[in-house]
Amino acid sequence: MNVGILTGGGDCPGLNAVIRAVVRVGHSRYGHIHTGLRNGWRGLLDRNTSPLDLDTVSGILPRGGTILGTSRTNPFKDPSGGEECATSFRELGLDALVAIGGEDTLGVAARLTAGFDVPCVGVPKTIDNDLDGTDYTFGFSTAVQIATDAIDRLHSTAESHDRVMVVEVMGRHVGWIATYAGIAGGADAILIPEVPKSLDEVCAAIQSRHARGKNFSIVVVSEGFELEGDAGDGELDEFGHTQLAKASVGEQIADGVRERTGSDTRVVVLGHVQRGGTPNAYDRILATRFGTRAAELVAEGRFGRMVALRGDEIVDIPITEGVAKLKAVPPERFAVAESFFG
Ligand code: F6P
Repeated sequence: MNVGILTGGGDCPGLNAVIRAVVRVGHSRYGHIHTGLRNGWRGLLDRNTSPLDLDTVSGILPRGGTILGTSRTNPFKDPSGGEECATSFRELGLDALVAIGGEDTLGVAARLTAGFDVPCVGVPKTIDNDLDGTDYTFGFSTAVQIATDAIDRLHSTAESHDRVMVVEVMGRHVGWIATYAGIAGGADAILIPEVPKSLDEVCAAIQSRHARGKNFSIVVVSEGFELEGDAGDGELDEFGHTQLAKASVGEQIADGVRERTGSDTRVVVLGHVQRGGTPNAYDRILATRFGTRAAELVAEGRFGRMVALRGDEIVDIPITEGVAKLKAVPPERFAVAESFFG
């Protein structure tokens, strides 16, 4: 079989580990050959390929980003996009396709499998950990570690200057990174989209800390958190999602806290640093397990499926089920963080 592989959406640590696993396992166990498609679905539409073999995947396990490049191209933006993908797929001589991506990339894979005779297997990725079909996605753990390291560093400078530091992290419409990095970094307040809070409540937490003699505070805010009355003003991407990183809620929180509490306040927007660099050991292992199972699904001819983590087991589920719902932070998980506020 000639198996195409592509990575779509925002990059995340562990993508190369998946590519390596699909190629190594597919080659050694099943005799598959592989074709890399460059820059997500754009590579299929443009027939822009790059060779993928044992040599090209050698040494990429610890590398961040993706050797195949990525984009947020949505083939279905154009009414003929599905057909164009199917034609390219046939003319490139492909027999199957492994799509590594988030809800948008995998949503396209599901539609191409069901309606256009392009047999796809999905591998979920995102630092946001927002796919309901899997307990965790690779990339999330590394992003949490990067954010935690930053919070640790901000603690010492906040304490030295008696400051409030507002740390804005990624996560899109859910607060997984904020909650986990906030717990690990000992945040004094965490603001996530799932749990509405007013500026008054944030300031009350800071003031109650200050009243018990603590003269600095760390506030972690997820980029998707909205202060009352603010609907966000980011541009839309090809899948119609607001590009949140362009509208900083951290600045708004910092301004409000400064105004209401009189505290010397600074804001740090961590941004894309959370997606960069080498995956940690957990993500390398999860990505390798996902890639291995994806190669098996291709060999078994089980298309329209995606790999997922349930508990400690790798399972496979319909792609449509895996991307149907956004996975919010459960209230009881956030309650753990909340016990330490103020
Ligand atoms: O989905 C991953 C993610 O990093 C989100 O956390 C963030 O909102 C978005 O991508 C940023 O996208 P871009 O790389 O297009 O700025």
